[in-house]
Amino acid sequence: MTTPKFPENFLWGGATAANQLEGAYNEGGRGLSVQDVMPKGLMTAPTLEPTEENLKLKGIDFYHRYKEDIALMAQMGFKVFRLSISWSRIYPNGDDAQPNEEGLQFYDDLFDELHKHGMEPLVTLSHYEPPLNLARNYRGWIDRKVIGFFETYARTVFERYQDKVKYWLTFNEVNSIISAPANGAIFPEEMEVTLADKWQAAHNQLVASAAATKIAKEINPEMQVGCMVISMPTYPMTPKPKDQLAVRDFMNENYAFTDIHVRGEYPGYLKRHLREQGIEIKFGENDAAILKEHTVDFISFSYYVSLVQAHDSETYQSGEGNIFRGLENPYLDSSEWGWQIDPIGLRLVLNDFWDRYQLPLFIVENGLGAKDVLIEDGAGSFTVEDDYRIAYLKAHLQQVGEAIEDGVELLGYTSWGPIDFVSMSTAQMSKRYGFIYVDRNDDGEGSLKRYKKKSFNWYKEVIGTNGASLYDAE
Ligand code: BG6
Repeated sequence: MTTPKFPENFLWGGATAANQLEGAYNEGGRGLSVQDVMPKGLMTAPTLEPTEENLKLKGIDFYHRYKEDIALMAQMGFKVFRLSISWSRIYPNGDDAQPNEEGLQFYDDLFDELHKHGMEPLVTLSHYEPPLNLARNYRGWIDRKVIGFFETYARTVFERYQDKVKYWLTFNEVNSIISAPANGAIFPEEMEVTLADKWQAAHNQLVASAAATKIAKEINPEMQVGCMVISMPTYPMTPKPKDQLAVRDFMNENYAFTDIHVRGEYPGYLKRHLREQGIEIKFGENDAAILKEHTVDFISFSYYVSLVQAHDSETYQSGEGNIFRGLENPYLDSSEWGWQIDPIGLRLVLNDFWDRYQLPLFIVENGLGAKDVLIEDGAGSFTVEDDYRIAYLKAHLQQVGEAIEDGVELLGYTSWGPIDFVSMSTAQMSKRYGFIYVDRNDDGEGSLKRYKKKSFNWYKEVIGTNGASLYDAE
């Protein structure tokens, strides 16, 4: 067996989202985002106004502490840092005529800080945080007008940051909108929403993603634009052909979104799926042409769990996950939140995407959410002995190495939540992913002080050896 080698210039780093770490929800001219009224997580009902229990309002105060945090990432040797721009810092209501200069300046400073430390920013335009006004005064992404607002926002940030940001992602986990409509500023608790509405919103986001790609290339062809999906490699529960068909149907939920982003048209299986549900997507006059002509440069994805499907799924125990759930896999262990751990699934999904598209790939989320315990390190400071996180990441990265050996072209790997922050699905602080511990608990109490965990030095070595240390004898 050969020992895998990571490519030179491989982009090692970490990934974040504005709503989960920035805080400062009402500072710097920022408008409210849907997350400010979702204190219990993305999949739960919104409140009327922001409420104090909502941990995201303060996050980990990255807005004020980003210099200290980026310096820590630099100590680990990060080559890339994934972040999202909070749309409502730039256009507070989403439909404003003029952008908010203070918001633009904030990201200018942040990008400068990253470059100062030799880090490439990887920027998501929309990470589950559209302006609240779009939900309350439009019907979110169901309304076609939102495509235009998004184009304006994208144009503003592309023009402004074209010399500072090379890698862009349009929508985080764009394939989640049917299951997680808040992603599209749609609150089913507040408005009547049909399945057809959700698919229309998905279509509108797909068109907006292609339109943003077009705008980016017009402004500066050097900019690279990618799509971003939740990946979900799926196994059949048994070798029954009907189970394999159930797998195929389920995986198509993922492929539909990458197929459209890469090939520029609706695949036959999706057209059939929509037809059989009586759903007719309203195409604007130029939609088909925009989709066809402005496809992405690379594919990025999150990977946490693999799934299992069966044609008679009701006879089995269901598994856990944040948005998509399959059936329990008896051969896998689970995290404390019941997410099944499957490093080989990551190798499989890398190969699947590569075989299907031959476009460069980017793993932009992967990691273990766990309850950490802060202990004294014997030298007067505190740390976390997170061997479980090291084991998780090591096993996954070894499979990434295997996929690279298989011939997959991979731009980089950004582990999710390099510093602890508020969870997306459960809105907890105690679900921690970081190499850096942040002193804040689920009641919102804590000094916000940062402490290096054991995994901090481990990841530093992985990056410093460009992955070679993953294969050191124990
Ligand atoms: C991804 C999201 O689905 O999963 C992130 O893009 C999220 O925003 C991550 O934080 C982990 O999920 P959770 O629910 O554990 O925070």
